[in-house]
Amino acid sequence: MKCIDQLSSAELKGKRVLVRSDFNVPIAKGEIVDLFRIQQGWKTIQYLSERDAKVIIISHVGREPEESLEPVGKAIKQFGAVVFIADLLGQAAKGAAAAMREGEILLLENLRRDARETENDESFARELASLADIYVDDAFAAAHRAHASIVGVAKFLPAYAGFLMCNEVREIDAARAPTHPSLAILGGAKFETKAPLVKLLLEKYEHVFITGALSNDVFRARGLPVGRSLVSKDLPSEDILSNPHFLEPIDVTVETPDGHARVKKPSEVLEDERIVDIGPDTVQMLAPIIASAKFILWNGPTGIYEQGYIHYTQQIAELCAVAVARGAKVVIGGGDTIAAIEEAKVPREKLGFLSTGGGAMFEYLLKGTLPGIEVLE
Ligand code: 3PG
Repeated sequence: MKCIDQLSSAELKGKRVLVRSDFNVPIAKGEIVDLFRIQQGWKTIQYLSERDAKVIIISHVGREPEESLEPVGKAIKQFGAVVFIADLLGQAAKGAAAAMREGEILLLENLRRDARETENDESFARELASLADIYVDDAFAAAHRAHASIVGVAKFLPAYAGFLMCNEVREIDAARAPTHPSLAILGGAKFETKAPLVKLLLEKYEHVFITGALSNDVFRARGLPVGRSLVSKDLPSEDILSNPHFLEPIDVTVETPDGHARVKKPSEVLEDERIVDIGPDTVQMLAPIIASAKFILWNGPTGIYEQGYIHYTQQIAELCAVAVARGAKVVIGGGDTIAAIEEAKVPREKLGFLSTGGGAMFEYLLKGTLPGIEVLE
């Protein structure tokens, strides 16, 4: 994969560069809830603009064609002078791209306004490519989607990876071959979608700790009561449950019907209770493992942080911050994990590498490549 820094300033000066970013950020009431992806993506845009390239940013947002990047266009101004064009490939966008001056930055409207984007339509990829001289893919978080702006455009222009993309690939490659001793913490829901990754992590990591709603599936598979907790269609298989590297919570926080939280053993969960987090004994169990680990991969908060069950995720994050400070490598990913860490007020910069990828991170961990990366090789 060629990184954008392989092009000299002279090769960039005056060139139109189409940057595929992933600015699919959470938006509520027209305001950006979390700037993380924009912050992480800014470095490539700034680098190109400072080298007098004409930078045209494209991205998708949401899943509905009517969703707009306008709130991103407003928020991104805190990083630099970006002009948002409320058009994708019409006269306004083409005219603005043609009239750009060196160093200028444009952001075009949501790629998913045009159905041809997700269909990976070649004519759409050609039209996008016609806006520019060089293509830079910095959308790691969308690199698992074989869409026109991700795999199509790269066929028609010299294609490079942006800094965010290069960093993600380097860091997640490291997570695929961790230094030992190592610990993977995996949360989320839907065991059936995570089972292949759990199996792979069990081969590569000394300890694989399953948390979040995934651990409800583990309890269920072991014949333990889970009350009203969320469980998946498919439960973990015996080879996973009996693997010597496999770890699960040894205590849980439950919410009672009257809304109170109690800590108990998994075997004590009542029919009308809901498991909402791990408990203090589980943190005690993990603490020495985190303290001695040289590599920690973490995806998925331990509890339902959106409903205030953040306490143990915060404790794990604090332990990880200590690990980073003593030189351990920590790679954290998934929108929920990063949002939970934000909620827990543990400074992101103390936590090692934070991936912008959700689904893309999972898929890259599993396969070691993605459609959007293959086209850059
Ligand atoms: C993400 O947020 O995971 C990426 O932007 C991909 O978005 P999508 O799941 O809507 O394709």
